[in-house]
Amino acid sequence: MTIRILGIETSCDETAAAVVDGGHTILSNIIASQAESHAQYGGVYPELASRMHVESIAFVVEQALVAAHIGWDDLDAVAVTYGPGLPGSLLVGLNYAKGAAFATGLPLVPINHLEGHLYAHWLDTGAEGSAAGNLRFPLVALIVSGGHTDLVLVHGHGQYQRLGSTLDDAAGEAFDKVARMLKLGYPGGPVVEEAAKKGNPAAIDLPRAWLPGTYDFSFSGLKTAVLRIQQKYTGPVPPRFYADMAAAFQESVVDVLVEKTKAAVEEFGPNAVLLSGGVSANMALQEAARARIPLPVYTLPSVLCTDNAAMIAAAGFYRYQAGERAGWNLDIDPGLQLI
Ligand code: KG4
Ligand code: ZN
Repeated sequence: MTIRILGIETSCDETAAAVVDGGHTILSNIIASQAESHAQYGGVYPELASRMHVESIAFVVEQALVAAHIGWDDLDAVAVTYGPGLPGSLLVGLNYAKGAAFATGLPLVPINHLEGHLYAHWLDTGAEGSAAGNLRFPLVALIVSGGHTDLVLVHGHGQYQRLGSTLDDAAGEAFDKVARMLKLGYPGGPVVEEAAKKGNPAAIDLPRAWLPGTYDFSFSGLKTAVLRIQQKYTGPVPPRFYADMAAAFQESVVDVLVEKTKAAVEEFGPNAVLLSGGVSANMALQEAARARIPLPVYTLPSVLCTDNAAMIAAAGFYRYQAGERAGWNLDIDPGLQLI
């Protein structure tokens, strides 16, 4: 019998539950996204997020079991995200997982959300560009989400060395803020990517924060530059402006992310590169990374880039095998880091 893990994820605005077999086969992957409800506020409204998690968590977990055609007795453990994330959101998933583990007698495995993003690469996705079990350490991982931008050297399971992080805004946060400035909608990443397809990145000159000699990132100067250029228009804005700005902004972010990752590859000589997190769904980023980095660059289908619970179950498999178990005193850790 292989090991079956139920993953539960509620760190931000997706209520998610999934069952993963043997650490790689997705038996079910249920995601109730709240994005439409938050769109009217232009970003995630934390109180609404936790209330919506409360309303949907029981149903989402039940659906994950139904879709996997299994019952609680067929599971080996419950893996749950305990940080980083929004406190009220994390609490809903963690308390539900504790209740379920207590009632069923299953062990509870605590998972760092960022480790989850990384372990999405151990899932069999069947998609082009996926790692499909070909991973050999060491690996360089770029984890780019709404809350984090981390460049990490992965020496082995659970063995991480941080190379660099953002000093201010996360890459996804910059996409969301610029989308709001340009009145393109929410969430920012997909709408900026769509607008950028019709724009000319060379039409507007935007800065790149190289922060030489470090693997750190900074996106707040870029965001301010976008705002300054936009504010120059006191009258009507030329129709091409939004598409050109989206393209120039995206190119600036992609350039810095890819060049820093490439530099890390040259210095540390990994076997491959992993792109994870919501921003890694961006095709311009995926294409630039593949074109410029002379190693396999593994990417994920969109649904496994953004928040999901299959990645939590995949990370849970390795933590479970390593004997990791949470006590009933496990608490949320909203500011948790990977390393
Ligand atoms: O990983 P994720 O779902 O949640 C966090 O852990 O934060 O990442 C969400 C972020 C959002 O900021 C969203 O705008 C960004 O990922 N994102 C994208 C794309 N799709 C989602 N950014 C750029 N291009 C995309 N296609
Ligand atoms: Zn995430």
